[in-house]
Amino acid sequence: MRLSVIGCGYLGAVHAAAMASIGHDVVGIDVDVRKIDALAKGEAPFFEPGLPEILAEGIASGRLTFTTDMSAARGAKVHFIGVGTPQQKDGYGADLTYVNAAVDALLPHLSAGDIVAGKSTVPVGTAASLTPRIQETGATLVWNPEFLREGYAVQDTIDPDRLVVGVGSSTDSDPVSVLREVYAPAVAKGTPFIVTDLATAELVKVAANAFLATKISFINAMAEIAEVTGADVTQLADAIGHDVRIGRRFLGAGIGFGGGCLPKDIRAFSARAEELGRGESVAFLREVDEINLRRRDRAVQLVVDALGGQVFQKKVTVLGAAFKPYSDDIRDSPALDVAVRLHGLGAQVTVTDPEAIDNARRVHPQLTYVADRDEAIRDADALVLVTEWDEYRRELAPAHASTLTAGRVIVDGRNGLDPAAWRAEGWTYLGMGRP
Ligand code: UGA
Repeated sequence: MRLSVIGCGYLGAVHAAAMASIGHDVVGIDVDVRKIDALAKGEAPFFEPGLPEILAEGIASGRLTFTTDMSAARGAKVHFIGVGTPQQKDGYGADLTYVNAAVDALLPHLSAGDIVAGKSTVPVGTAASLTPRIQETGATLVWNPEFLREGYAVQDTIDPDRLVVGVGSSTDSDPVSVLREVYAPAVAKGTPFIVTDLATAELVKVAANAFLATKISFINAMAEIAEVTGADVTQLADAIGHDVRIGRRFLGAGIGFGGGCLPKDIRAFSARAEELGRGESVAFLREVDEINLRRRDRAVQLVVDALGGQVFQKKVTVLGAAFKPYSDDIRDSPALDVAVRLHGLGAQVTVTDPEAIDNARRVHPQLTYVADRDEAIRDADALVLVTEWDEYRRELAPAHASTLTAGRVIVDGRNGLDPAAWRAEGWTYLGMGRP
């Protein structure tokens, strides 16, 4: 099927390449010339495992093209909108500038019978408000939220755990059958395919992210209690996680969640609920946000305490800058925030990360960046693990670290290390919610 994908960021670029990889003819469209030039050459503009391979394959096959010219969308049966919906600069709500601009630019190129499938995460009610303009062209708007995780985006797009398609009340075409055809391999596998109204589809997405954020802040709240009682939050998580109703995943206590989705989505959800007169229904999301941000303070405090009450001119190496491993994304990264705060307290901060240094340097040029892990930790008074890349969590042996650092302090912001192994080497190990 001929498809267009408007917006070629973390979501759209992967969607375009993944759709080509399952056999569709896809054009990816974005206003960012540099991004499009890179993609057209088969270069992924960000780090995402598996993306370079499917980009190259799609381009070589002739099924995948990229352009800044919106008229290339003409003739596609389905037009996916995958542009960003960041947090507003002066508020908690989502900024819909890019969604509106994408729709405005697409309208002149739509034909009767086309389907516009919104994938961006939007406040509930957005699809209904866009519908009249799209209907005027004879096209149909559906909402098809995306649940991909960065780091696993290719796999999550080709083989999702569920597909959700929200449809409006008055449509002449049968958009659901067309979307089934788009996702034919997943549908054939029996992937749950849930058809809803527009509002439900929009809400499914924000509810899922709100739930995940709440789960993380729940365990981080337990970490705070553990810290004043001497309990161990990782054991607690293991124990409650065995209850299948609870489940162990997303009970990783530490410096909390970040990235381009969870933080802004819970804020946008709160803002939208306020507009709808139901702010109290999701008032707990404010707490979820606050618990999350407190954990960064806690990590910084642990470093300060471990270094004798002040970090001024102390050498601190921060292991990680990305908001999570297998990503170079530093949007709202708790890791980088911890580094910036330590720098603000006068520490000589060195940041290392296998993929995110270039992005981090652009936003925080005041920090020192060293790509090589061992060079980064040389002569450090303290190490702070904030992104659980394998090369820090699994592959950094305490005995090896001891040969390089000046001090013997490690703060484990992700509870990913074995405390006994580090203590056995003479290190002061400090976890999050662990005795
Ligand atoms: C999240 C959702 O998981 C996806 O389903 C969703 O599609 C996506 O947002 C989106 O809306 O586009 P993502 O932002 O890639 O995906 O990252 P997650 O894997 O959810 O991790 C988010 C943050 O939570 C990371 O900073 C991670 O370190 C943190 N986290 C995760 C914890 O602190 N503890 C955990 O136990 C798990």
